[in-house]
Amino acid sequence: MALFSVSFAPSGGSAEVLEGTTLLEAAGACGIPLHSPCGGQGRCGKCAVQAAGGVDEVKPLERAVFTEEELAQGWRLACQARVVGAAQVAVPESSLMVEHHIAVEGIEREITVEPNVRKIALRLPAPTNEDPRADLDRVMDALGGDVRPPQRLHPLQALPQVLRSSEFKVTGALIGDTLVGIEPGDTSDAAYGVAIDVGTTTVVAYLCHLPSGEVAAVASELNHQSQYGEDVIARLQMAVSEPEGTALLEAAVVDGVNRLAARAAEAAGIALDSIYEIAVVGNTCMTHLFLGVTPTGLASVPFVPAFQEAQTVRAAALGIAIHPEAVVYVVPNIGSFVGADTVGVILASEIDRGDGLVVAVDIGTNGEIVVARGEDLYACSTAAGPAFEGARIGSGMRAAAGAIDQVAINNDVSYHVLGDVPPRGLCGSGLVDALAEMVGAGLVTVQGRLRRPEEVGPLPEKVRGRLIENEGGMEFVLARAEDAADGRPVVLTARDIRQAQLAKGAIYAGIVSMLEEVGAGPGDIDRLLLAGAFGNYISRESAVAIGLIPAVDEGRIESVGNAAGVGARLALLSVAERRRAERIAQRVQHVELSESEGFYDRFADAMMLRPLPDEG
Ligand code: FES
Repeated sequence: MALFSVSFAPSGGSAEVLEGTTLLEAAGACGIPLHSPCGGQGRCGKCAVQAAGGVDEVKPLERAVFTEEELAQGWRLACQARVVGAAQVAVPESSLMVEHHIAVEGIEREITVEPNVRKIALRLPAPTNEDPRADLDRVMDALGGDVRPPQRLHPLQALPQVLRSSEFKVTGALIGDTLVGIEPGDTSDAAYGVAIDVGTTTVVAYLCHLPSGEVAAVASELNHQSQYGEDVIARLQMAVSEPEGTALLEAAVVDGVNRLAARAAEAAGIALDSIYEIAVVGNTCMTHLFLGVTPTGLASVPFVPAFQEAQTVRAAALGIAIHPEAVVYVVPNIGSFVGADTVGVILASEIDRGDGLVVAVDIGTNGEIVVARGEDLYACSTAAGPAFEGARIGSGMRAAAGAIDQVAINNDVSYHVLGDVPPRGLCGSGLVDALAEMVGAGLVTVQGRLRRPEEVGPLPEKVRGRLIENEGGMEFVLARAEDAADGRPVVLTARDIRQAQLAKGAIYAGIVSMLEEVGAGPGDIDRLLLAGAFGNYISRESAVAIGLIPAVDEGRIESVGNAAGVGARLALLSVAERRRAERIAQRVQHVELSESEGFYDRFADAMMLRPLPDEG
């Protein structure tokens, strides 16, 4: 097969690829992260590029996405177009994966810092004729009887030199009760760990100074597994159906952890080998893939994970380049689709200890819901889909620069754009606002139907004029082509509204189903906690107006930021919290919503775009 050169603008990257390679793969070979939320299935339309030269013929899937005019200009879906000769590809900014707003604060909690890693400074007597103990015995005697000697050769090999070069003033590094390193001088303060929240969309790393518990640096990036599919289902499919699927997904996240650890260490001005431990949370699929465990049982009924308990493994065995003896602690999962991240949310918010009826909702790519009342703790995950992360919405995008994140409709449509740039899409909080405003203005019925211009009541002409009909049906223009980046208008279509209804219906119905488990209803909620980035940024008023969350008093709703990440930090900083996480995972009752009685009726009711429960 012939090799052809493909060059990319504006980055200037180029690669020699085999005939038949997709432009998406060629971009990947050049390190150009093209957005591909559908995993290259040709369904999302997000990987649009302009190609010239040797590319094959346009596919039917592409005709559904582009107009004839756009096709004539060379617009192609990078995942569908294949190289058949030397090609030049222009990548618009809107097709690149971008960093986005991530909740990194979370709730703060007071804890006693008692990490699994300890460093103890020692002043050892030098050997004499009267005291001819072996070097290692000298160290072990000073550390006391509860410490286990090194289990690997590496600390021992350097020991004689370390002791003598430092005049027998050294520091013993312990992970748990095992001596893993002997360092020259007093390095007791140079002890770090990293708490990591492996989200389906984003990976966040908190570099923590272990003796004090302080966060020394935070780094985050998109989960690079996104190139293989936006949601958990797509990645599960890839992991179980492709021969190298699990390995590729594992590498994507492990490489990310290495990058984040290096970035955080650099920001804090510390050496990577002073990081001794990593604590990880993530959903069940993410924790499996992080450990390189093929999640076969999660891919089909009866949906069983390969493991549920906490896992402790050597960082080096996973390919994580920190201290050579460092370990990784993975917080336990609750069930097949409710993972360690939910344990983290419970740990951080302490709802397992709280009084009253508390509901915690984490609206990420997967929507997890926890209900706590007294001793009862129930958790479920909803098949909400990634609509609020911008996927499956025509103009949808993540909460990054160029995303409309707030919308108001008065005399005309006004909006706020993240990053002070022209709009190029709509993120989850913008979607929730837009829906609430459109229903309020009578543009959309509570059943979710986008009205035609002649059906709407009295409305300012500027607003009415944004309702347009084209081949695909009705759509509402939020940002006009002339105001938008890339000259593409930001619109909300009837189909998008349906997607948002399905997502919000699943979340609301999930909340009500979980409340029923404890014999309660939405009116009984004492505290409603919104976790995750989305929970931080949405307008609560709009979320209540469209029935995404129950209509409870504003004062009872709290945004708790990245509570899962805070949970990972707690597991890193305190052995007691780690044990508590393990007890929580045992205690929580996992509810499979599809088996919950009446769920589908509740789901149908919850599709209505109005405050719920509907008291009218
Ligand atoms: S259409 Fe190409 S990645 Fe989705």
